[in-house]
Amino acid sequence: MNNDITTTFTVKFSYKGKSISVENISYETTASDLLSKARSSYQEIDDDIILRLIFKGKTIAQETVNDAPTNGDDMNEQLAFSSNIKIPKSGIAKVIIMGSTTSSGIQQLNSLKSDPLMRGFDEEKMLNSKAKKNKPLSTYWGTKYTQQHKQYKFCKLQECTDASFGSRTDRINAPHAFEARRLLECLATDPGIISLLVKRQLVVGTLGEMDPIDDRLMQSKASEGACLLGYNTNHGLRIDIKLRTDDLSSFRPYKELVSTLIHELSHNWCSEHDVLFWTNYGQMRVEYLYKHARLMEGGIFVGGKRTAELAGVVDMISPPSASSVSSPSSASSSLDSVMNNICQSITQECAREMAQHHLPVQLIVPGILSFSKELMAETEKEEDTQTGGYKLGTVDNKSNTTQQQGGDDTAGMSMRERALVAAEKRAREQKKE
Ligand code: NI
Repeated sequence: MNNDITTTFTVKFSYKGKSISVENISYETTASDLLSKARSSYQEIDDDIILRLIFKGKTIAQETVNDAPTNGDDMNEQLAFSSNIKIPKSGIAKVIIMGSTTSSGIQQLNSLKSDPLMRGFDEEKMLNSKAKKNKPLSTYWGTKYTQQHKQYKFCKLQECTDASFGSRTDRINAPHAFEARRLLECLATDPGIISLLVKRQLVVGTLGEMDPIDDRLMQSKASEGACLLGYNTNHGLRIDIKLRTDDLSSFRPYKELVSTLIHELSHNWCSEHDVLFWTNYGQMRVEYLYKHARLMEGGIFVGGKRTAELAGVVDMISPPSASSVSSPSSASSSLDSVMNNICQSITQECAREMAQHHLPVQLIVPGILSFSKELMAETEKEEDTQTGGYKLGTVDNKSNTTQQQGGDDTAGMSMRERALVAAEKRAREQKKE
């Protein structure tokens, strides 16, 4: 859509739960103008804090550190709101201000890397060497997703060492530290997580395993309403996730680890568990699942499995009970029903989580639905759904047979999926005989 560039609107900044409105913003306002307005609105923001402005989940302006290498094109000379961005009818654009010391924090971390007390020093050296560039960080997600994004990523992964379990008697059955490491690598290269980091231009200093002993301490503080399954230090300088079950005998289910990670990522913007936080969380969850749904539709398989299966989220994308009325014969209606399922799953998930904070999920549903529409429009042109060599919803004579065999419970699935389901069903039937 084309917006009249002379239209003015109001920007409602939100920083650490405090809102301040600034009027007379237009499509001609540059990113640096908006940053200085943000700064002058909040006296409490220190000079050494680096600001990032986020609108509808995207970075629209970002301060740079003086000594940081510039990448040529200074985004802050660009317009803050590009003409295809739609300002809500209310005339108020809610812009989240994220303050961080991340850049300097990361530099600090880098300087610590030669500390021999830091476990995995050799590994870290490997991570930084050029030779490792060709070495996959993880092969869990197949050959296409073996590395993190070059820029938007977790700079460092840090599992707890075996020694950190101390002399605990129940540590005997605990999975080894290298398994925890592998799990962190899976999280870092999860296509859905990569997509979130890249779209939001996030850099996280360290993704670490929450210390199991520390975590018991955390539980005793449960009454304070802190997160029990993860924590976010300094707006993403460091995110720690509780990987292990309480008895330390195994790891928590992968899909729960992802939910925790996304929860902690959402704390990059909002430290409180308020409506803004949950809206942001819900939107990121939708985006995560949609990424896997699209890979699924595109027929991307890893060792015979879809990434959604590996991530344990198939039932959230296409629940067995979802009896979609819409015909799956066209690409758009198929994706529509998938997105519909995803939004329902996330609404249920958020309802459970938010109930613990005494917030009704209805407060965030509109935000999730409008985001899902934007996301679909935005990703329409992207390639995922075609990279598997299988275009969505292309009906040819050969697959028509499969489609009919699929029956009602496969409505909303792609041809490829229906074929797989039919094959699985046949295999099951054969077993029974
Ligand atoms: Ni939290």
